[in-house]
This record gives sequence, C-alpha cells and structure tokens, in this order.
Amino acid sequence: MEKLDLLYEGKAKRIFRTNEEDVVWIQYKDSATAFNGEKKEEITGKGRLNNEITSLLFDKLKQAGVDSHFIQKISATEQLVKQVTIIPLEVVVRNLIAGSLATRLGIEEGTKLEQPIVEFYYKNDDLGDPIITEDHIQVLQAATPEQVQVLKEKALHINEVLRDHFLKSNLRLVDFKLEFGLTNEGTILLADEISPDTCRLWDMDTNEKFDKDVFRRNIGSLTDAYNNVLSRLGGGQHV
Ligand code: C5P
Repeated sequence: MEKLDLLYEGKAKRIFRTNEEDVVWIQYKDSATAFNGEKKEEITGKGRLNNEITSLLFDKLKQAGVDSHFIQKISATEQLVKQVTIIPLEVVVRNLIAGSLATRLGIEEGTKLEQPIVEFYYKNDDLGDPIITEDHIQVLQAATPEQVQVLKEKALHINEVLRDHFLKSNLRLVDFKLEFGLTNEGTILLADEISPDTCRLWDMDTNEKFDKDVFRRNIGSLTDAYNNVLSRLGGGQHV
C-alpha cells in the first residue's frame, strides 16, 4: 500500500489518499487541542498513544460485532481505514453527568444517570460544534430520521461494549464522542477514533481522571494518563 497526497488535515490527524480506492491512510499527530482550538500544545507520544488505544478498541468492537472504518494499524502512529463520507454530527453518549452537561444542567459532575443518554452536536468549527435537536438535524439535512435512529442504536450498543470492556480495567466510562461515516453503498460505519481524547475515563475506586480533562483542566500529565489507559487495556508502555 502506498501513501499518496494529503486529503485532509484535522486537529489531531492527517488523512492521506492511497493507491487503493476506498482506503485512506491516517496519521495521528502529537497536537493536543481543547476549547475549539483555543488551548493548543505539542505533546510527544500523544499520536502514538491514541493510535494504539483506538486500534485496540476498534478491534474489541469488531469482536463484539460492531463494524468500523478500521482496517489495521500499520505503524506506531498510523492506520489504514476504509474511506467514508463523515456524517457532520458528533454523537455523544453519557453514563454520568460531566463536562458540558454538568454546566448546562447545573448538576454536579459525577452524578449517575438512570440510563445512558445520547446527544447530537453539529460538527462545525465556525459555530463551535453546537448541541442540536433531531429536528435541527433535519433542517441541516445532516442525516435522515432513519439514519438518526441507527446512529442512536449503534451508539448505545457501542456504549455497552466499551463500558464492560473498560470496567475490566477498573475504569469507568463516563461519556464519549463518536463519529460515523457513510460508505459508497450507503452503509453507516463507526469512524474517527475512540481514545482518551474522545472519552472521559475515571478510575472506578478513586475517580482519578485518565482522559483529556487532564490537559483541559491542567491537572496532570496527558502522556502519563494515556499510558495508564493503554497499559490497563493490555497495550505496551511508551515513554
Ligand atoms: O464537553 P462535553 O462534556 O460535551 O464532552 C462529552 C464527551 O465528548 C467527552 O468525553 C469529550 O471528550 C467528548 N468530546 C469530543 N470532541 C468534542 C466534544 C466532546 O471528543 N468536540
């Protein structure tokens, strides 16, 4: 497989075309950003950690019957994935109240939800990725009502698989963000990444944070936290 020209550069990844149709080459970057790019830092090792953790989690999901764009990890910071057209929605699943939901509802972070909830945000940097309703999704023509139902079902299923998986590592899956894409045939596939950049993960006993909140809130070393997650998931340590 050959890496060809750069198709897209995001905040955390670069995507390259390959000599094979429908396969793209993803390179995870060392950039850490928060608050829609307002806080920014280069953190050596971050790209490798997120690539390894995402690859482990997509493999785990595959074993549980959840298809994703992931094909294979090809180096410490790179993977091959199926090319999809990203649906411009961020699908957030929450098991506990934290982050923006704690602020929006004025409920203490850490409060358990009776049932997992799903939220949709419009992927649009200029607007700051606003939370939107299902009616807004129709106004934006971002997905059909049927596709919205599929996204919700898939998101809740992924939550069950990941929650159980993290529990085995004594980590509480507080919330996370997913992105989905459409294949040429119109199939909805899980895409993007699943890593401590996109999940809140707390130690089951101490509630210590092992996710991007460490960076957002300046409460410790991002690489220490992500290395901890990787080793709990059975992956190798990296300095
Ligand atoms: O900020 P908020 O509480 O809404 O985030 C919910 C979850 O979605 C968190 O796990 C956060 O890391 C993730 N998220 C993300 N990318 C965004 C917004 C949120 O990965 N643009």
